[in-house]
Amino acid sequence: MDAEIERLAGITREQALRIDEVNLFERLGEAPILKLSTNFYTRVYADEETWFRNIFKGRPIAESIQNQVDFFIQRLGGPPRYSQRKGHPALIARHLNFNMNKKAADRWIYHMRLAFDDTPEIDADSRGRMLDFFTHTAYFLHLGVTQRR
Ligand code: HEM
Repeated sequence: MDAEIERLAGITREQALRIDEVNLFERLGEAPILKLSTNFYTRVYADEETWFRNIFKGRPIAESIQNQVDFFIQRLGGPPRYSQRKGHPALIARHLNFNMNKKAADRWIYHMRLAFDDTPEIDADSRGRMLDFFTHTAYFLHLGVTQRR
């Protein structure tokens, strides 16, 4: 599966794991991560592409933001808030019931890029590492979910 993720994402696993070379939580602090997720989900919940917006239908935006922030903080080297609250992230399992086709992964990344544009508190180096990891994870989830169906 690695080669296929790499082909879709244009990012190698090694490149994606550059997020672990620095503790990005310590570098950035909590506020920019909260701002990034708020910007991301504000866009997603207002997406003019109804098919994408509908993937999140019925889920309170505050909870979606909280889940993402807790996961990001944990994954970027901060306290394990996500696991304390919800257990192992098990991202493939938690995405099994959603539309996770390639177009959805593309759209997720599209919104995340724009969310970074609106979050200048996150410096270019950190942004690069985070976007590489998110992009790799998006196609990892796309392939992982579709293979389990
Ligand atoms: C590929 C496109 C993606 C789609 C369509 C998608 C869709 C969703 C949806 C509908 C939810 C439920 C919202 C909630 O209740 O929290 C969710 C949750 C979540 N997503 Fe994604 N997602 C995608 C990619 C990603 C990526 C790339 C990551 C990580 C970098 C990620 C991490 C999470 C996390 C941590 C949760 C919370 C899970 C939970 O606690 O239940 N997702 N996603």
